[in-house]
Amino acid sequence: MKDDSTLAGQESLTPVKPGNRLGSTILSFETVTSTNTVAKDLARAGAEEGTVVLADRQTQGKGRQARSWSSPPKRGLWFSYVLRPQFPVQWLGLIPLLTASSVASAIEDSTGLMPNLKWPNDVLVRGKKVCGILAESEFRAQTLSFLVVGVGLNVNQIAGDFPQELRQRATSLRIEAGSVTRREILLDSIMAQIDKDYRRFAASGIEETSANWTRRCPDIGKMCEILEDGKSTHGLFESLDKFGRLILRLADGTLKTIASADVNRVFPMGSPGNPTHGPDLPKESYPLQQFKTKTAS
Ligand code: BTN
Repeated sequence: MKDDSTLAGQESLTPVKPGNRLGSTILSFETVTSTNTVAKDLARAGAEEGTVVLADRQTQGKGRQARSWSSPPKRGLWFSYVLRPQFPVQWLGLIPLLTASSVASAIEDSTGLMPNLKWPNDVLVRGKKVCGILAESEFRAQTLSFLVVGVGLNVNQIAGDFPQELRQRATSLRIEAGSVTRREILLDSIMAQIDKDYRRFAASGIEETSANWTRRCPDIGKMCEILEDGKSTHGLFESLDKFGRLILRLADGTLKTIASADVNRVFPMGSPGNPTHGPDLPKESYPLQQFKTKTAS
């Protein structure tokens, strides 16, 4: 099977499914700086809700916390979609979580892999990151003008396609499933899933989105390290609040609500997640082991 076919201009991409709002217009490019940047420009110029910007390659792919996002040509799905939500702005934080959960479902349906989620919006397979999501909103006179949600999914990379510094933490569907995935088919399935989940969310509220997300997050109820602006806090990842924020129980029993941070699981001493001490148990039973930190509780 061809794994490097271009997505740009392919017929199967326009539009995805009659009736789906997401993907009613798909603009596909061979190379852009960042699909988020292009989608924001289009949204400012009036692009309608559901417009998708897709690229085979990004020269300045952006990640969360001002990081860059490796986007090699034709190996992944790099796309962004425009939303013009009517629901309360406090719900906005749930959209990246919803997107991560939809992407995880579509991956599971298409490949049989069982992705996990890491707060706020990473999709992991066997503990390594396969997909990241970057949401950017713009307001005019304190009213939400639009939201752009960017999805970066590593599909057909081999290990050597990742920068050296990412190889321990990042993976692709091809590496994990052992076979090539047709990107255009996977994209259709992801967009259909996001469309379905988003409609339900807009119609019936936040509970189902939170429940779907929580179901795939192995960190809930576990000790975690939270990194906010370089500051580290430890606590128990208790739950999500109704706006998708992380509720952390601190050592003194109080609760702290976190809207934006990086989360690392803390493994107890002697577990394979922290093998400095204790027996070396089978690796498979601790899928998040590379997120170990020095600290033991
Ligand atoms: C992260 O995990 O840090 C978020 C990564 C988001 C990457 C995607 S790729 C498509 C879209 N365009 C970008 O520049 N970034 C997002």
